[in-house]
Amino acid sequence: TPAQLLQVPPMGWNAWNTYGCGATQSLIESVADSLVANGMRDAGYRYVNVDDCWMTRDANGNLTGNSHYPDMKALGDYLHARGLGFGIYESPGAKTCAGYAGSAGHEVNDAGTFASWGVDYLKYDYCESASSLSAQTADFARMRTALQATGRPIVFSINPNSGSNTGAGVTRDWGDVSDQVRSTEDIGDQWWGQSWPNGIANIITENATLAWRAGPGSFNDADMLEVGNGGLSTTEEQTHFAMWAMMASPLIASANPGSINATSLALLKNPRLIAIDQDTLGLQARVVGGSRLVNSSGSLVLAKPLANGDVALALYNGSDSAQTLSASLAAVGLPGTGTWTDQYTGNVVQTGAALTTQVPAHGTAVYRVTTPGAPASWYTTFVNPTAGARSY
Ligand code: DGJ
Repeated sequence: TPAQLLQVPPMGWNAWNTYGCGATQSLIESVADSLVANGMRDAGYRYVNVDDCWMTRDANGNLTGNSHYPDMKALGDYLHARGLGFGIYESPGAKTCAGYAGSAGHEVNDAGTFASWGVDYLKYDYCESASSLSAQTADFARMRTALQATGRPIVFSINPNSGSNTGAGVTRDWGDVSDQVRSTEDIGDQWWGQSWPNGIANIITENATLAWRAGPGSFNDADMLEVGNGGLSTTEEQTHFAMWAMMASPLIASANPGSINATSLALLKNPRLIAIDQDTLGLQARVVGGSRLVNSSGSLVLAKPLANGDVALALYNGSDSAQTLSASLAAVGLPGTGTWTDQYTGNVVQTGAALTTQVPAHGTAVYRVTTPGAPASWYTTFVNPTAGARSY
């Protein structure tokens, strides 16, 4: 087995949530230009990902771009020339979710085609009706092996079928066959939505409990970011971005970077929150408090150990009214007092062992706490599932 591809979650942009099947090669190229111009590339958003509907299979059995994508190799070259990575989409069945040519039976050939185009990232989206976890595993493993055989490092992002995302699929650690795994149904540009598409709050509820299967090598994918798409309030967008960072989710933006509003753009580029997501320990935050919400009315306190010995603490209020919430260093096993820095503003808010604050409806307060003298390895006890610090 080659060394793991990802020490930290990938960052990038994906066409689906804003453009669906309407995206084109020239649109993707203009998105790439905008990512450079608006500073998102330099903030870390490197992979530019084409989603469903780009492909056709020619008479020789080779994948090729359809009329929307006249030259896939040229698209890859265009992205690479701008310091960006080339992401692409396929499905393990005969057809993709939107009914285009899938990779079933063509895995080795398709992986070779992707490598020849300079692909750096493959989203592999299971669109068949529910099949067993072992059958899905075999499908994913077949493409993973084919990608590895090309010798080109290609991030492998999987989406097990929706029946298993929130069901049996979440009992499985997919790290043996992927670099990132979707944990829920499709995200929608809305706060709440229990069935399809899921709201931000629903995804947080589900994904926050899956820290046990995230770490360097394979991360939980809470789905694309809706920041900048207009359906969320500023407070809700802050919660969305802060919680994705706390959960070490891939940060894959979906809003048009050429027209995104300034407030949302600044949030997407917030260097403190990005640093929490991209921290090299690669750990997903553990739930250390809150009301163990099962619906929108609850709260969560999350703690994410960071590589320099700091801890990120988040107070999430899922309810429709303000709540007073608390976090403490003692709850994560850190001795003494620390300096608490608000991660939206960068302002130090206090020195202390605990913090209690009023969090607005749908809001999340998020802090980085520096505790001088904390043993560098404090977190190894904290993340050990037998040590008792985990609430789920
Ligand atoms: C389902 C996925 O969850 C979406 O993100 C998108 O890739 C569509 N399939 C495309 O058909």
